[in-house]
Amino acid sequence: MNSITIQPAAAVRGVITVPGDKSISHRSIMLGAIANGITTVRGFLRGEDNMSTMHAFRAMGVDIDDDGETIRITGRGLHGLKEPGDILDCGNSGTTIRLITGLLSGQSFFSVVTGDKYLRKRPMKRVVEPLSRMGARISGRNDGTLAPLAINGGFLKGVEYQSPVSSAQIKSSIMLAGLYADGETRVSEPSLSRDHSERMFRHFGASLDVHSDGVAVRGGFELTAREVTVPGDISSAAFFIVAALITPDSELLIRNVGVNRSRTGVIDILLAMGGDIQLQDEREVSGEPVADILVRSSRLKGIAISGSVVPRAIDEFPAICIAAARAEGVTSVRDARELRVKETDRITAMANNLRKLGITVTETEDGMDITGSERLLGGTVDSCGDHRIAMSLSVAALVASGAIMVTDIGCVATSFPTFFPLLEKVSSK
Ligand code: S3P
Repeated sequence: MNSITIQPAAAVRGVITVPGDKSISHRSIMLGAIANGITTVRGFLRGEDNMSTMHAFRAMGVDIDDDGETIRITGRGLHGLKEPGDILDCGNSGTTIRLITGLLSGQSFFSVVTGDKYLRKRPMKRVVEPLSRMGARISGRNDGTLAPLAINGGFLKGVEYQSPVSSAQIKSSIMLAGLYADGETRVSEPSLSRDHSERMFRHFGASLDVHSDGVAVRGGFELTAREVTVPGDISSAAFFIVAALITPDSELLIRNVGVNRSRTGVIDILLAMGGDIQLQDEREVSGEPVADILVRSSRLKGIAISGSVVPRAIDEFPAICIAAARAEGVTSVRDARELRVKETDRITAMANNLRKLGITVTETEDGMDITGSERLLGGTVDSCGDHRIAMSLSVAALVASGAIMVTDIGCVATSFPTFFPLLEKVSSK
């Protein structure tokens, strides 16, 4: 199990870009595979999670070419996927397994999906239940609630589904099944989760209506191949935004970051904490808002975080916890129960690790209270096999009183293979 030791830094400075958005990269392969024609994707994230999606579609007969610059997907049309000869391994990727299960529910063949030891513990009932209501026959471990899942698809009917949680994976899984269903499929959620599927469905010409209370997809319409340019991932940028905010004498420009409103909760939260963050040159690329983000060192204060901003920042809480650990006063996080079913239980993982660094943290069932401190201790912390825990703790090391060793860092390759060299490049000792 590999680890890294990171020394405190004097400043974080420079001009950087971060790799492509993970959510948009997944969706570009999925829609490209079932569209008619050749879809080209630039800025695609070649992290392990997205490679799992790519391998799964290749295993279903889709020709996907990668020249290192551009990905070219030869779409097979709505009904052109082939029965895979083996189990589809989704690795660590919740997005791959949940979205692909929706898509496979619409196929008239048999398939089995699974993943690594972390993914096999994550809840699948949230997609199995609505997809079964649409007519898919899905079985799996623990009464169909855990992977591996075996899917007998085909003959779906449109349903109206009110998701009890705000989750883009649930919404997108049902939308993908809805492309194959008879009639209209409607999904609503308590508050808006990331809407990349809605935007990309439209980009590929799907028959889709977005309402204030959800989205409606009509089945049976073919998609048309498109060009997709993937912006930098705000979830990856978040580690560098926090790094520049908490480290003295810092100024960092992060170019070409996706700033879709359903993803910018982290910016709203850090601004409310007193962060000096500016969005520059806002523009739209392939139907997604993009900007350059300028960040300077700031004195942060604790705030209360709850409600509809939570799904808009759901992947950024590990990074936000580091900002909170350095803020003056208490930061409280509530309505964030979903953090307990991410790659690991991120509430417990961050609480335990922050305590090792001398920070006072109280866990609640749906969040935590973090009491900020000027003094963060050095020591050894553990990623718990979760890429975002590993990266946020590495950022904490920049302002600790001694070196921090982060163990089990191989997971970083799932979303940000170049994270450590980039962190090294911007931090001066
Ligand atoms: C994602 C949705 C979110 C997020 C995940 C990516 C997506 O998961 O945490 O990293 O691409 O749809 P949930 O839908 O479980 O909130």
